[in-house]
Amino acid sequence: MNRKIYNFSAGPAILPQEVLEKAQRELLSFDGIGMSVMEISHRSKAFADVLERAESGIRDLLNVPHDYRVLFLQGGASLQFSMIPMNFLKARADYIVTGAWGNKAAKEARKTGPVNVIHSTEQSGFKTIPSQDEIRFSPDADYVHYCSNETIDGVEFNYDLEGGGIPVVCDASSNILSKPIDIEKYALIYAGAQKNIGPSGVTLVIIRDDMLGKVPEGQYSMLDYRAIAANDSMLNTPNTWGIYLVSLVCDWLGQKGGVAEIARLNARKAQILYDALDSSDGFYRGHADRDARSLMNVTFRLPSEDLETRFVAEATAAGFNGLKGHRSVGGIRASIYNAFPIEGVERLVEFMKEFNR
Ligand SMILES: Cc1ncc(COP(=O)(O)O)c(C=O)c1O
Repeated sequence: MNRKIYNFSAGPAILPQEVLEKAQRELLSFDGIGMSVMEISHRSKAFADVLERAESGIRDLLNVPHDYRVLFLQGGASLQFSMIPMNFLKARADYIVTGAWGNKAAKEARKTGPVNVIHSTEQSGFKTIPSQDEIRFSPDADYVHYCSNETIDGVEFNYDLEGGGIPVVCDASSNILSKPIDIEKYALIYAGAQKNIGPSGVTLVIIRDDMLGKVPEGQYSMLDYRAIAANDSMLNTPNTWGIYLVSLVCDWLGQKGGVAEIARLNARKAQILYDALDSSDGFYRGHADRDARSLMNVTFRLPSEDLETRFVAEATAAGFNGLKGHRSVGGIRASIYNAFPIEGVERLVEFMKEFNR
């Protein structure tokens, strides 16, 4: 079996080797029960324990306060783009747009009600992140939505937004669990699992209790956070296998020292790569402004599209996978999530120097 590939995929992305090995060992018989996790009832004691481990894993890693619920949903982060306005948009919602995903979220919300884009960096090409002081909320906003790390553009907030009384809703799909965050700043924070939490098909939603009381009467059950919370994420059959993998990823991250420790490693990995861009005499040009640079998705250009095509082809042949930028923006993107090893970054930098030469 050949796993000697450095996997820079933006998502679904690399999972920790130890997690895959454990899942492989337990594939046929989970915890000695003689059946796979995929083959047992979600109402069984064995699965109840898995769900409990996944939930407590997230709670411990992110220090989630007691007045928040930790939910595992389906439909990806994209369903949250719809569910959030369907549950909480009454008068108007504020959206901060710093990249492609924030844009999509705002577009989806407009189908439900008035959206005020209070800050957008689209005109300047999604290279920057506003400071807290630059943000002015609408006085009657039901919530403010932002994306803490724009996976396609490679820009990241390096602070938790303060809503000043307005509930803060955050898409943290591509940087959750990569560093400590202050959950208390958020009314709702969500993430598709397929970068730092587990496989695709699970969406993590952490929601403050008071938000559940705002869900409109008559909401469709599967879109109703209150009903989902009341049923402990099991209003219908959950993604049992995916949640099992989430529990293993949480165990793995806990053993690595948790989010504070992984944040140090993530910062080092990103530094190595950004240093390589900055010391290339302009051959590699980072997309994001320096103070907006994502530690998870490093986006850059080469002098021409032809060179970018050659770069990706030669990198792929040399065992570096997933470096092609998103189809909407082109260029190169190296995604270096929690499970991505530092030596992979070092090898890529060697390759980049050689390619430049
Ligand atoms: C920041 C962000 N938000 C939302 C999404 C959409 O996620 P999903 O495919 O789970 O709907 C992605 C996917 O990559 C993402 O990176």
